[in-house]
Amino acid sequence: ASRAKWVVGNWKMHGSLADNAGLLESIAAAPASGARIGVCVPFPYLVQARDVLLSSSVAWGVQDLSMYPKGAYTGEVSAQMAVEFGATLAIVGHSERRTYHREADDVVAQKTLRALEAAITPIVCVGETLEEREAGSTEQVVGRQLDAVLAVLDAQQAERILVAYEPVWAIGTGKSASAAEAQAVHAFLRERLRAKSAALDAVTILYGGSVKPGNATELFGMPDIDGGLIGGASLVADDFLAICRAAA
Ligand code: G3H
Repeated sequence: ASRAKWVVGNWKMHGSLADNAGLLESIAAAPASGARIGVCVPFPYLVQARDVLLSSSVAWGVQDLSMYPKGAYTGEVSAQMAVEFGATLAIVGHSERRTYHREADDVVAQKTLRALEAAITPIVCVGETLEEREAGSTEQVVGRQLDAVLAVLDAQQAERILVAYEPVWAIGTGKSASAAEAQAVHAFLRERLRAKSAALDAVTILYGGSVKPGNATELFGMPDIDGGLIGGASLVADDFLAICRAAA
C-alpha cells in the first residue's frame, strides 16, 4: 500500500529531436497524479529531455549504463555522466541488452551498483523467454536474475531499486501477459524480495510487455503490480498519458 507507483516510458532506439519535442511537451503538461512518471531516452536526447521536463514533475533517465565508474571503455557512458544531465532513472538488464549485447546477470548487478552509487534509481529488468515459460522455468529464471542483483547490494541499496517484470514473449509483440499471469510472477518476486528483508516489501515492481491503454487498468489493478515499463505506447503521447492515468 505504501509502495510508490511508477509509469516509465522506454523509448528504446526511437525518436529524433523533432519528434521528441512534441512528445516531451505533452508529457510535461500531464497533471501530477498518484503515479510518478518517467521517461528513459537515448543518451543524445538527455539534454532535450532535461530542458523540457525540468520544471515538470516528470523524471527522466537512461536505458543503460556502463558497469564501470570511469576509464578507458570506448563507447560507454557512465552513471555519473547521466547524472550531470539530471537523470534520476536508469533501466538495467533489459532483455534487449541481455539478448543483443550478451549482458549476463553479474554485469546487470554491477550496473545496478553503479546507478545506486550515483544516486540514480535503477529499474532492474527480469523476465523469461517463451521457451523458458513453456519449460516451466519462469520462476527459476526471474529468481536467478533478481538474486544476482540482490547479492551485490547492501540492505539500504536494495530498498532503492525498482524491479520490472518483462516476459520476453510479451515485449513488442502486442501479446501482453494476462493480468493473472503477470500477478503470479509479481507475487513470486515480492516473496523473493521479502525473503531477503521485510523492508523490501516496499520495493516497486513494474510490469512491462505490450501495456496499452486498453489493458493497463486491469494489469495495474493487481495487488502486486505497482505500475508499468512502457515501450511502444510510450512513443504516442495520448496512449502514454492514458496509461499513466490508469496507474494513478
Ligand atoms: O521496456 C519496455 C518493454 O520492453 C515493453 O515494450 O511496451 O513495446 O512491449 P513494449
